[in-house]
Amino acid sequence: FGKERSNSDGVEFGNSDALDSLLAEIVQGARQTYKAEPLIDGKPASGETRPVVSPIDGTTVAGQVTEASADMADRAIMAARAGFAGWSGTDAQVRAAALERAADLLEARRGAFLHLLQTEAGKTLDDAMSEVREAVDFCRYYAAQGRKLFGSDEAMPGPTGESNALRMRGRGVFIAISPWNFPLAIFLGQVSAALMAGNTVVAKPAEQTPLIAALAVRALHEAGVPTSALQFAPGDGRVGARLVENKHVAGVVFTGSTEVARIINRTLAAKDGPIVPLIAETGGINAMIVDATALPEQVADDVVMSAFRSAGQRCSALRLLCVQEDVADRMIEMIAGNARELKLGDPREISTHVGPVIDREAKDRLDAHVRAMRTSAKVHYAGEAPTAGTYVAPHIFELDQPKALTEEVFGPILHVVRYKAGRLDDVIEAIDATGYGLTLGVHSRIDATVNHIVERLSVGNVYVNRNMIGAVVGVQPFGGHGLSGTGPKAGGPHYLLRFATEQTVTINT
Ligand code: SER
Repeated sequence: FGKERSNSDGVEFGNSDALDSLLAEIVQGARQTYKAEPLIDGKPASGETRPVVSPIDGTTVAGQVTEASADMADRAIMAARAGFAGWSGTDAQVRAAALERAADLLEARRGAFLHLLQTEAGKTLDDAMSEVREAVDFCRYYAAQGRKLFGSDEAMPGPTGESNALRMRGRGVFIAISPWNFPLAIFLGQVSAALMAGNTVVAKPAEQTPLIAALAVRALHEAGVPTSALQFAPGDGRVGARLVENKHVAGVVFTGSTEVARIINRTLAAKDGPIVPLIAETGGINAMIVDATALPEQVADDVVMSAFRSAGQRCSALRLLCVQEDVADRMIEMIAGNARELKLGDPREISTHVGPVIDREAKDRLDAHVRAMRTSAKVHYAGEAPTAGTYVAPHIFELDQPKALTEEVFGPILHVVRYKAGRLDDVIEAIDATGYGLTLGVHSRIDATVNHIVERLSVGNVYVNRNMIGAVVGVQPFGGHGLSGTGPKAGGPHYLLRFATEQTVTINT
């Protein structure tokens, strides 16, 4: 941020006045009706609608969505193309001011956003509140960075009689494809970065969470982002595929699975014409290494927070805990003890720690993994989940070796392995061999051990002696390496540069 701004404020849930007023705002939010429809130059396109069903109970309808057809996707790109000259030519200070106004609108309308984060995405109040704050932070942070990076040309040295300047420019039409696990923060993070850099955008939210994305688009338009600069194309993977295939696309920003990132990459590579950049943030088999010097109480808190909060549906979440053998029994017992304290259920109840997973498909996949683990691994903890809605209880399984976990399991399921003292390098190698590199936790009081681990593992975000989730905008720039993504750090000072292109202007004076 600049000197003048800081991260957005939270609400102290222990302060009953503040909490009551927040809950009253959410009640207001629940009174509104919500719909998402394709917006081409700000005009809604009509088509068949379907209800968006809440994961809380599998029956509540959060709102209605009209999905974009192939033709609408094509038209959205043509409209964004037509809007490019105007928006990229708009002064960067004006673009930044629009994002800042959008951040203000988000704060002013937080009741509606919180309501949808809970009802459409199944988030607890705590998680929903953090997400609204993160979304606000992205808008303000990229605006502040954009004012600096794009505000004026950078004069370069040169001989007398010649002026040289370096100018940052937008690339053209960016496709922004975002996930359901941060349906507001990642959606807005992608869109605001691409817009700030002078691109026009076609935004495709996750099929599970179009309503909150539609509300965010409305805020951006009302804040002064021209309707030609931001087009909206809700729908499933087919809409995303159609957008990416279009020959007028100048860049794609995607957060989701490694598999889909690969498909996008191949599609872009197979097209004739310019080479199109892909900014991808994907998954991880995120590990935490705990040695015998770690503080058990702190480890237990941090593990439970990292593995089970947000129902394990963060790309940063802990999947593989590697504990030094000497302390493993005690650590596992304490972690299971803490897991037992977690309250599962309706995320709208303030005391709930773990809400539902996003949909039936996710639940079925996780349940199948739990069944497989029950036969092949040692069970240390198996929680109980409510039956209505799509809940998956926290589980802790012990594996013989790290490579028994072969893929990202996107839910509240923790896998534990033990390692022998003196065999830390085997663990490091096993983590490295996964090919992922998003987050890593380390709990150790020995600096040399910490430094050795951090040095040896190429991961995007390392957290030492704390939990490993909840990267803060402008504080912990977030994004991974290898199978976890192409490397740009969302919420970091260099992110916007990935969305821009540079032009050198040399004038013989
Ligand atoms: N940015 C999120 C976090 O840090 C990732 O899912 O938890």
